[in-house]
Amino acid sequence: MSSNTSMHGHWKSRWLFILAATGSAVGLGNIWKFPYITGENGGGAFVLVYLLCISIIGIPVMIAEVSLGRMGRQSPINTMKALAKASNASPNWAIIGWMGALAGFLILSFYSVIAGWALSYTVDMANGDFVKISVEDSGSIFTSLLANPIQLTIWHTVFMVLTIAIVARGVNAGLEKAIKFLMPVLFILLFILFGYALSSDGFTQGFNFMFSFDFNKLTTESIMVAMGHAFFTLSLGLGAIMAYGAYMPENTSIAKTVVIVAFLDTAVAIMAGLAIFPIVFANGLEPSAGPGLLFQTLPIAFGQMSGGIIFGTMFFVLVSFAALSSAISLAEPIVAWMVERFNMSRNKAAAIIGISAWTLGMATVFSFNIWSDVKLFDKTPFDFLDFLTTNIILPLGGLCIALFTGWTMSQTKIKNEVGIDYPLLYKLWLFTLRFLAPIAIVAVLIKGLI
Ligand code: TRP
Repeated sequence: MSSNTSMHGHWKSRWLFILAATGSAVGLGNIWKFPYITGENGGGAFVLVYLLCISIIGIPVMIAEVSLGRMGRQSPINTMKALAKASNASPNWAIIGWMGALAGFLILSFYSVIAGWALSYTVDMANGDFVKISVEDSGSIFTSLLANPIQLTIWHTVFMVLTIAIVARGVNAGLEKAIKFLMPVLFILLFILFGYALSSDGFTQGFNFMFSFDFNKLTTESIMVAMGHAFFTLSLGLGAIMAYGAYMPENTSIAKTVVIVAFLDTAVAIMAGLAIFPIVFANGLEPSAGPGLLFQTLPIAFGQMSGGIIFGTMFFVLVSFAALSSAISLAEPIVAWMVERFNMSRNKAAAIIGISAWTLGMATVFSFNIWSDVKLFDKTPFDFLDFLTTNIILPLGGLCIALFTGWTMSQTKIKNEVGIDYPLLYKLWLFTLRFLAPIAIVAVLIKGLI
């Protein structure tokens, strides 16, 4: 253990780590999922709980997860084994790595299908299919995409192949370059969309929907969804960010870096919401439309704007790239472990994971059409996988990470690693990690599951 290098490679600088971690964090979770679950859970009060979860659970746990990764310098499974051994703790802590590898695989399976929707929309946009489109037609384009398993499978396949190709090449080769350019462009486009929304009739209503707190709308399930999403959107609790931490340079402050990543991630989500809800209200749509929200609303806006074909196409290209830079981090923990454990080439490990996740992904493809009546615990296969991973496994993983870092690791080592300069802040972080975050996670899980 405690080697200063990783066999899988390194980020060339602190900025590249920030970029990669932001690339992992910013994805479908921000642009597609956050707006639609905000809509389903009644708006402002949900947003507030989500922001609270990001601050008191997400950021502290993220600091811990990255630190564990950098101390271990291996795949999450082996990092946890090594750190547990060095702390004379039970080897069972490796469960964090195992659970995470499993969750990463499960999430990748459905993530790829949804990212496929964005690919499909890129092509439709470029074709001009949405020019001056009516609200009804926009809805029916989406519905007919979902009703068509062949179409969904094709795009799911394309996305999975792209993901695996990048993971196989290792992170330095192509992705670093791509996201360096794409992330800023994504921000600019979100600003343009936001500007459009600002000038639309629905802006005040959209804004109020997101920021006026009506706590009557908040159910126990919403609180659980808000917490789960805080983990999902920050890529926390499954070792993805631990794996990325393992490739982080030695002499950078983890805490400061994490705060930047969390801020950027939250900013993208809020901007996406502020772009979407005004369009929802201006066109008399339902905020609770569900997973189709983004796909049914934004094309209407692009269809009306001048230059809409170009902006719209660019937008969906960027969503696809944001999804790609997230998807690779879902595969990374398990691929890195297979390389270490079986001495396998990255190519082979990535191919095995890709083919398996693709196969499982077909359950999500069929959830929207031929299997829409197949229910597990009252949920379609897609909803079930999403619920199980996001709302249960990720918070459990986060809980274990908080407990292990707060109680089991040597405090001197941790203190040196995290890079929190102010003693008071460090104490606050440790207190949150030891008590506040675990209690909050357990309370929400217990209430949510009963
Ligand atoms: N954070 C990504 C998003 O918001 C999804 C994601 C990538 C993820 N890696 C993860 C979620 C690891 C949980 C854990 O789209």
